[in-house]
Amino acid sequence: MSDKIVLTGIKPTGMPHLGNYIGALKPLIERAREYKTFMFIADLHALNSVHDAAQIKQHTYEIAAMMIALGLDLNNAVLFRQSDIDEIYQLNTLLSNVTPKGLMNRAHSYKAAMDKNIAAGLDTDAGVNMGLYTYPILMTADILMYNSDIVPVGADQKQHVEFARDIAGYFNNTYGEIFKMPEPVIGADTGLIPGLDGRKMSKSYDNTIALFAPEKELKKKIMRIITDSKTPEESKDPDTSTIYQLYKHFATGAEIAEFAEMFRAGGMGYGTAKTILFEKINSVLAEPRAEYERLMANPGEIDEILARGAARARAVARETMARVKKAMLG
Ligand code: ADP
Ligand code: TRP
Repeated sequence: MSDKIVLTGIKPTGMPHLGNYIGALKPLIERAREYKTFMFIADLHALNSVHDAAQIKQHTYEIAAMMIALGLDLNNAVLFRQSDIDEIYQLNTLLSNVTPKGLMNRAHSYKAAMDKNIAAGLDTDAGVNMGLYTYPILMTADILMYNSDIVPVGADQKQHVEFARDIAGYFNNTYGEIFKMPEPVIGADTGLIPGLDGRKMSKSYDNTIALFAPEKELKKKIMRIITDSKTPEESKDPDTSTIYQLYKHFATGAEIAEFAEMFRAGGMGYGTAKTILFEKINSVLAEPRAEYERLMANPGEIDEILARGAARARAVARETMARVKKAMLG
C-alpha cells in the first residue's frame, strides 16, 4: 500500500461504454486497491451544460452505483458527490484570486467553444457561461483540496491538471508551501477498444456498447459488429477483427489463445464468433450488472454510501480550508 493519494472525478453524463470501462474505470478500480483514493461524481462540473436537476441527480446515482457494482474498494476509496462538500465552493472562490485570467483564456475547452462560435459567425463568447470559463479553477479546487499526488485522467483533461499545478505554484509562491504538486497520469492506451464499426469506440461516433446494457441489447449490439465478408470456412486474422479485439479484454490468456486459433484455422463464421463474444462479455458483466440494477432500485443505499464518503472527504476538506484561510486571511 503506497502512501500516495490518488484523486479523480467522473462527470455524471450518462452510462459509460465498454471503451471507458476498459480504458479508464477498470484501471481506476484496480488502482484503488493499492492507493488511498478520492473518487467523486463531479456534478458541479456538469452544471455549465446541464440545467436539469433531475437529470444530474439520476446520472449521479448511475455513476455511483456503477462504481460500487464494479467492486470499488470502499475502504481505500472515498466515494462521494462533489457538491456535498461545501468547502469546494469556498476554495473555488479563494483560488480565483491567484488565477490569471489569461490562463483561463488558454483552456482548450473554452478555446473550442470560441472557435465553434467564430466558425458559425457568432459572437466569440456566445453561449459561454462563467461555469465553462472557470471550469479549470473548480477542477483545481478538487485536486488541491484532498492533497492529491496522482490524478488519473483522459488525455483531454491533462491540460486541466497542468493548470492545477500552475495555480498551486502561484499560490505557494505568494503564501508559502500550502499545496502539494499533483501529477497527471494519462492512460497510455486510449483508443484501444474498437466500436461496432471498427473505429475507436466513442460517444462521438455512435458506435458504443453501454457497460451495463441489458442482456438483450448487449446481444443485439454485438450481432451488429461490422466484419469483412469472409465465409465461415476461410481463415481470418484475429488482430484486425473487432470481435477478437473486444474478446481479449474479457477472457483469460488460454481462452484468448484458443479464440485466436479458431480465427486462423477457418471453419468459424463471424456469427458464431459473435455469439462466443456475447457469452463471454455477458458472463463477466452479469453479476455487476445485477448489483447495479439492485442498487438503482434502492437509491437509499447509494445515498448512505455517498454520505459516508462525504463525511470522510469533508474531514480532509476542513483541514485544507483552515490552512488556506489562515494563509490568505490571517
Ligand atoms: P468518448 O470518446 O466516448 O467521448 P471519453 O473521451 O469521455 O469517451 O472517454 C473517457 C475515458 O475513457 C478516456 O479518457 C479513456 O481513458 C477512456 N476511453 C474512451 N474511449 C476509449 C476506447 N475506445 N478505448 C479505450 N479507452 C477509452
Ligand atoms: N473535468 C473532468 C472530466 O470532464 C472531471 C473532473 C472534475 C475531474 N474534477 C476533477 C477529474 C478532478 C480529475 C480531477 O472528465
